[in-house]
Amino acid sequence: MIKDVRSQLNVLISKDKIQNRINQLALNISNDYNGKPLTLVSILRGSIFFTVDLARKLDLIFDMEFVELSSYGNDFESSGNIKINKDLTNPVENRHLLIIEDIIDTGHSLKFITEHLKKYNPLSIATCVLLDKASKRVADITPNYVGFVIPDKFIIGYGLDYYGHFRNVDYIGYLGE
Ligand code: IMP
Ligand code: MG
Repeated sequence: MIKDVRSQLNVLISKDKIQNRINQLALNISNDYNGKPLTLVSILRGSIFFTVDLARKLDLIFDMEFVELSSYGNDFESSGNIKINKDLTNPVENRHLLIIEDIIDTGHSLKFITEHLKKYNPLSIATCVLLDKASKRVADITPNYVGFVIPDKFIIGYGLDYYGHFRNVDYIGYLGE
């Protein structure tokens, strides 16, 4: 049984702040990709809420792909050992790829998927993350679009899970001090 931690969560970023920042990101991305063949590559499962809210605000023509990664290690830290559970469905040659991720921590996951997608010869690859635990970075990667730089806390909500649960919490929360 999963303990219901919702009443113990502290608010780090409110629902309104998330949506306001997504609106700004969407404006920037819409300017940068205007007229270009764009594919959003959403990383399952944590980034689905962010992907949907961002996608709805883009004033662009684009298609969407989904990939799923898994990382051996514990549930709270990604190891460098990452595997692809689900890869792209369609060819992406002649398309610009924008990877949409919920959070970057060590950077291993984003670095891994960026390198992997290069093999499919897209026109370009860029990355958009909602949350950046910048102080924790190990891998050599800097996201192109960042929603919020956050401190090193374990985050739950807005897609981010605690043992697979509570992704539907509609703000960005954390446990503990
Ligand atoms: P990285 O490979 O260390 O950059 O970690 C990225 C992945 O770890 C994300 O896609 C999340 O699935 C997970 N992750 C990292 N920090 C958190 C957190 O605070 N809460 C929930 N998941 C996290
Ligand atoms: Mg994830």
